[in-house]
Amino acid sequence: MTAHVIDGKAFAATVRAKVAAHVTRLREENGIVPGLAVVLVGEDPASQVYVRSKGKMTVEVGMASFEHKLPVDTTEADLLAIVRRLNADPKIHGILVQLPLPPHLDSDLVINTIDPAKDVDGFHISNVGLLGTGQKAMVPCTPLGSLMMLRDYHGSLSGMNAVVIGRSNIVGKPMAQLLLGDSCTVTIAHSRTRDLSAVVQQADIVVAAVGRPEMVVGDWIKPGATVIDVGINRIERDGKTVLVGDCHYDSCAAVAGAITPVPGGVGPMTIACLLANTLTACCRTNGLVEPEGLTA
Ligand code: GUN
Repeated sequence: MTAHVIDGKAFAATVRAKVAAHVTRLREENGIVPGLAVVLVGEDPASQVYVRSKGKMTVEVGMASFEHKLPVDTTEADLLAIVRRLNADPKIHGILVQLPLPPHLDSDLVINTIDPAKDVDGFHISNVGLLGTGQKAMVPCTPLGSLMMLRDYHGSLSGMNAVVIGRSNIVGKPMAQLLLGDSCTVTIAHSRTRDLSAVVQQADIVVAAVGRPEMVVGDWIKPGATVIDVGINRIERDGKTVLVGDCHYDSCAAVAGAITPVPGGVGPMTIACLLANTLTACCRTNGLVEPEGLTA
């Protein structure tokens, strides 16, 4: 079997087009322009690349983009004051503080200072609790994008066995909650899981989010299963730097029914979902109808 390749790049473009159409309606019918503020502390090159690309796509869908680039030695008090100012600003509907923060800053405190209604990352403890109890929440972007691709490919996920590899707060745990919400039987596996290959072999859906290049191999995959590869790892191969996922693509694609490639799978969906979340936050704040198909 050769797996169907789930084209995240193309799917993300359709999500952005839906967002853009809704943004146009909001502007024309309600005079509202959704605004996204991104806060970057320090000069981590990977974070700078992400922030630049977020800003560009925000503008492309017709939203207002606000960037706050702060020096690496910004104090916690100054950063919290900026977050509070953004909370109070009616032009801002979404706030994202780029992680990781420099070590002298308390990420939990900073994230939990964001107004939960503007927390487009879905990292605030209130949103984590709302998601965990099946209530309307802001949902983290990478798991939301992964869920959208799974729903698009399968329709209903009800009753499927899902194995999430990785227990991070950003991906693994919220992904498991979302799959549970769609009535999957969910296992969260991690670095201490015994006989991981046997656990993964039970899965109709595998979500790999461990940050270990090509760890999941084809022998672990149940024939016909769907593989969502969240990993983005830079490795050296034949003297070149290449991007690979947490799954060994060729061997997994030979066994799976469907698979997301790296790059071009989950990655583009993350930013598309950030824009979708900003739109959702804007609609909820203004008591307007939310766009369909862009939330969990
Ligand atoms: N750093 C890498 N990915 C993300 C993300 O999705 N949100 C935030 N806030 N920081 C990140």
